[in-house]
Amino acid sequence: MKNDGKKESAASDIMVRRGVYYPAFGIYDGVAGFYDYGPIGVRIKKRIENQWRSLFINRTGALEIETTNIVPEVVLKASGHIDTFTDPITNCTVCKTPFRADKLLESYYEKKGMTEALSSVKKMSIEHMEKAIRDAGTGIKCERCGNPLGKVEKFNLLFKTQVGPYGGETCYLRPETTQGIYVDFIHLYKTQGLKLPVAIAQAGPAFRNEISPRQQLVRVREFTQMEYEMFIDPEDDPKEIFGFDIEDVLKTEINFIRSNNGDKEEILPLKELLENGNVPSKHFAFLLYLEEKLMDAIGMDKKAYRFRELEKEELPHYSKGNVDLEVKTSYGYIEVAGNAYRSDWDLSQHAKTSGQDLAIISNEKKVLPHVVEASMGSGRLLFSLIDNCVVEDAERGWNWLRLKESVAPYRYAVFPLQKDEKLIAKAKEIHRMMLEKNTDAYYSETASIGKRYARADEIGISHCITVDYTTLEDDTVTIRERDTTNQIRRPFVELI
Ligand code: ATP
Ligand code: GLY
Repeated sequence: MKNDGKKESAASDIMVRRGVYYPAFGIYDGVAGFYDYGPIGVRIKKRIENQWRSLFINRTGALEIETTNIVPEVVLKASGHIDTFTDPITNCTVCKTPFRADKLLESYYEKKGMTEALSSVKKMSIEHMEKAIRDAGTGIKCERCGNPLGKVEKFNLLFKTQVGPYGGETCYLRPETTQGIYVDFIHLYKTQGLKLPVAIAQAGPAFRNEISPRQQLVRVREFTQMEYEMFIDPEDDPKEIFGFDIEDVLKTEINFIRSNNGDKEEILPLKELLENGNVPSKHFAFLLYLEEKLMDAIGMDKKAYRFRELEKEELPHYSKGNVDLEVKTSYGYIEVAGNAYRSDWDLSQHAKTSGQDLAIISNEKKVLPHVVEASMGSGRLLFSLIDNCVVEDAERGWNWLRLKESVAPYRYAVFPLQKDEKLIAKAKEIHRMMLEKNTDAYYSETASIGKRYARADEIGISHCITVDYTTLEDDTVTIRERDTTNQIRRPFVELI
């Protein structure tokens, strides 16, 4: 797996060797921007998604739905994606390889240590980018053949398809899961007996024809989004949100970069950010609170992430305020979640285009709800978590993942000490009993016990259970803890 010119990181070495995730269609040389998850990757990804589900959906009583991946043109015309969902592209003047102009500039300024220029890229128009690339001279050239780059233009990231035989209707793969939620809102409101505020969420695939997919799972063309949309009355000044006392929520301190403040991180309570207008509303603050909790639930190091208020020029077409959640990785900071105050943009656009009245009656008045949104990608979360959890351990002799039990692929690995039929039979029996009780367990009898410990540590399994000759006498096993390698002896029934 390519690590984009960087020294292969300890994390990506494990990902490759253990097939956690890998380029799709490998036997046909693959297509850039598509990755498959192997069995360990799926387990970790699902567990991250389950932590999201447990906090965002179960804890707040949100409604989870599933809407289709393919959407008709009219929906994305209404949402603004057909006209404005673009990134700046520049092509090599000789070999025609396409590049994302803003990313080329960012990596050039980063390498040169030009911090001011680096933070200005997000605000640049395409004309400005074209000039900046020209001004860099040979500093920015085709990464493939070294020739100069051409004009900078806008490139639409939507994947188009035709539905039905003989051409049929023009449709698109959804670039975000959330449009399905807006389109369904009024139907759900009426059929589910709802009352504002209401949160509707979904987790599922999204598709973007990225200009230059790179950095493993960070920029791919098909990925899983977990999106949480809160429909609110904009005049509501809540004392509690879904049972959470707002004063308690606002006491939460987060690591934050205000807009127009360079890269300066400050630990600030949500209350102060709200009062200063860095966070547009209490409901929005509640989203950041949930994300802070999620990062803790999946075991992300508190020093590894920050929230960043977007500059005006960076805001998506629908937004009246955005805060990104960014994690530091071996590729630098990457966005793992985008939080947006989408106001009534989407509902009013869909009302106008469909001719349907999407307003509801709330507190005896007609309201077109506003929406605050938290949009996360589980692939980027997985990548950044693994990148931060890898422990390079010369003493142990292998690198391993310090994954919190909540997201570890297995809680236990069960091993017979050696290839002895009696030990194997006992270990298999214990493993089966664990599975019957829904206790998460992996089984292996291949290779030496030391190698099996190493293989379990590498993918972050929390404990290794070894079945030895004493087990045959008294039903006790050794339990080896991954982080310390300490071993204790216990009756195996305590683990089931
Ligand atoms: P970037 O600026 O890095 O392209 P974005 O601002 O386009 O990201 P959003 O549109 O806010 O991202 O999407 C919400 C979330 O969906 C992101 O925070 C990220 O976790 C995920 N996501 C978006 N695009 C991709 C992608 N190409 N590959 C993987 N995950 C993605
Ligand atoms: N739904 C927000 C986004 O995908 O950008």
